[in-house]
Order: sequence, then C-alpha cells, then structure tokens
Amino acid sequence: MSKASNKKVYRLPAHSLAKISLYKRYLSIYLSVLANTPFKIIYLLDLFAGEGRDIDGNACSSIAAVEALKNHYDTANVVCKKVKLFFNDYGNSVIEKDLKKIDRVERFAKELALPSHYETTYSNENFENIIGKVINRLNKLDSLEKALCFFDPWGYKYSKPQVLKDLMANGKTELLLFMPMCFIHRFAAKALKDEDYAAGQHIEQFITELYENEFPEIQTQVSFIKGIQKQFKKYLQVEYVDVLFIEKERNQYFALYFFSNSKRGFQKMLEAKWSIDEKDGRSFSVNKNQFTQDLFANVDHEDYSFLLYERLKEKKSMSNQEIFDFGLDNNHLPKHSKKVLDELKREGKIKVLNVDGSNASGYYLEDKHHKHIAIKII
Ligand SMILES: C[S@@+](CC[C@H](N)C(=O)[O-])C[C@H]1O[C@@H](n2cnc3c(N)ncnc32)[C@H](O)[C@@H]1O
Repeated sequence: MSKASNKKVYRLPAHSLAKISLYKRYLSIYLSVLANTPFKIIYLLDLFAGEGRDIDGNACSSIAAVEALKNHYDTANVVCKKVKLFFNDYGNSVIEKDLKKIDRVERFAKELALPSHYETTYSNENFENIIGKVINRLNKLDSLEKALCFFDPWGYKYSKPQVLKDLMANGKTELLLFMPMCFIHRFAAKALKDEDYAAGQHIEQFITELYENEFPEIQTQVSFIKGIQKQFKKYLQVEYVDVLFIEKERNQYFALYFFSNSKRGFQKMLEAKWSIDEKDGRSFSVNKNQFTQDLFANVDHEDYSFLLYERLKEKKSMSNQEIFDFGLDNNHLPKHSKKVLDELKREGKIKVLNVDGSNASGYYLEDKHHKHIAIKII
C-alpha cells in the first residue's frame, strides 16, 4: 500500500466522511422500511470494511453500519428481528501495526454491544477468494430474506460489471457502490484511446464490459457519471439505479450508486436522497422554460420537467399509476411530478379527469392507489 493511501486510512478525508454519513442514512432508512415488512433475516455485507475507526475516532463504513443498527434497535418503534452483519477486509492496520484491520473492526463493534439477535461475522480473506462464496450464499436467500451489500473497494479493479451482475442476480440483494469517478473519468479517455496505457487497463476493461463495446459519453464528469448510471441499469438488468454525487472539490466528483429491484425500497431511498439535497439547497424546481417550444435549444434534456412533459405529449394520456412509475424510473418522487403537473395545469396544457370524465380534484400519485385518474394533454 502506498504512503498516500496510508495517509487516507489514518484520517478520513471530508469526502469519505460524507460517503459514510450517506451510507449510514441510507441504512437507517433501509432498516426502518424492512422492519415493517415480512422479511425475517436481513444481511448487511461490507466486503471492504476498513479500519473500523480512523485516528480521530470517526467511524468507517463498517462501524457506521453497527452504529446505524444500534440506533435502529434503540429508537425504532418496530425493529428488524434478525440481522446478520458480515465484514471482510484483508488489510493490515496502518494505525495499530500488529493488528489486522478486521481485528479493529471487531473490537469497535463489540464495544457497541449489539443485541444477540444481531449477529456479526468477521473475515480477513482476499476479496478474490471470497466473492464467489458470497454470491453462492446470496443466491440461496429465501423469499423472507434480503441483503444489502456495501461495496467500497477504492477504484474499479474489483467492481467488475459481471461481479456486480452476479451479486444482484438473485433479485433480493440491494447494492451500494462507491466509485471515485473523478479519477476514472480522468483516465477513461486516455485508457480507451491508448492500448499501451498499462495503468488504465482495469478502467478500460470496466468500461468496455459495461458499455458492451460502445463508446461512453466522457465530455464532462457529470455526463460521464449519468451515462454510467444508465449503462449500469441496462447491463445489470436491474429495475432501479440511483446515483448520489459527492463533490470532492469544484467539479470533481465521487459517486454513490444504489441498485435495487424493490419499488418501495427505492422510493424510500429516493426520499432520503432528496431530503439531503433539499437541505443542501439543491431542491427540485420546475423548469418552466421547458414548456415553451422556442426555448428548447437551451434545455438540459435530463431535466425531469422536460422528460415528463415529453412523455405526456407522446402518450396523450397517462394514468396516475403511470406517472408514479415514470417518476421512480427517472429518480423523482411523486411530489416532483405533482409540481410539474401543477405547472402544466396552470398553463392550460393538461386536464385531470376521473374515470367518468369529470374533473378530478387531485393526482393520487401513490403506488396502486385505489382511485384511477387520467392526465390528458390538451
Ligand atoms: C477504500 S478502503 C474502504 C474503507 C472502508 N469502507 C471505509 O469506510 O473506510 C478499501 C479497503 O479494502 C481493503 N481491500 C483492498 N483490496 C482488498 C482485497 N483484495 N480483499 C480484501 N480487502 C481489500 C483495504 O484494506 C481497505 O481497507
């Protein structure tokens, strides 16, 4: 391990603390959603568990998960009955030289004294030896078991698209993948053009496999990250993929991808994400310019108001269920669709009708809402 990376392991930098706090937030929501479902056993896996705590005592991902679980147990009205944590890291500690990182994780986890029905297993195997066993085990999950895997290998060497696909193939695993996209983006163009560029070999393999030999969009880091998100969805054949940007410095991003096949789980995760964004001042707003044809030249075509309006124009009429699903597919919540629909209604571009053709008083944007309405383009 290089000196530079040692330094990072000693003291978690701001973007790592941000990543860990997002993960913790995701986890607490995940646990409270699952506590209210029939699932009997929840597995939480962290295959690159780290040092447990840095020299300032800040929790790494593994101990953050234990803290989230403890907090869930101590505060939630309904708690998950059985949770099995699995931590793996093969590294030697750079803080306590005679220990393995996983020994520190074990010590810090024990200090938090989880209740006995929350079991923890520790392992110090090389990822390459353990991943096959993990996938086999996940493939055996029964219908009342669910798993969340946190994947933070620092880089792309171990985040091979096929491995991620195999991890999710059972349909019962959710995955959070952290990727330092600013580095990947910087090397991607070079690696794809220059076959002799040895350092770029893993990046090239990653991109070639994910894009199935098509060329990625690498114009900006943001478009690259969003392009990877779309490609993940296609390649992994997973229902939902979301991405959260962590800005390291100006226009330099890390990304936390979330993959899920559960509609309800995904909706809850989006709520968590948007609540973070709204707190940070990046709240959703309707781009009214997008409803006016002649301004389309200036439009960011990724904008949700544009996408929803385009879909409505294409279909002429959409049900409340279709609008709800369209929102989730495009990583937006019912409240965002409502804002867009309110604006379109105000501008006289849509009408909202009950099944008998009378005007409806609301949009009823919930999954499987008993009331059916139609939103029609005028
Ligand atoms: C980016 S750090 C992740 C740290 C942790 N998630 C955190 O929040 O601090 C990557 C970790 O993966 C471990 N690691 C790297 N390659 C590994 C491998 N092949 N098998 C097992 N662990 C590995 C390193 O020891 C390091 O602790």
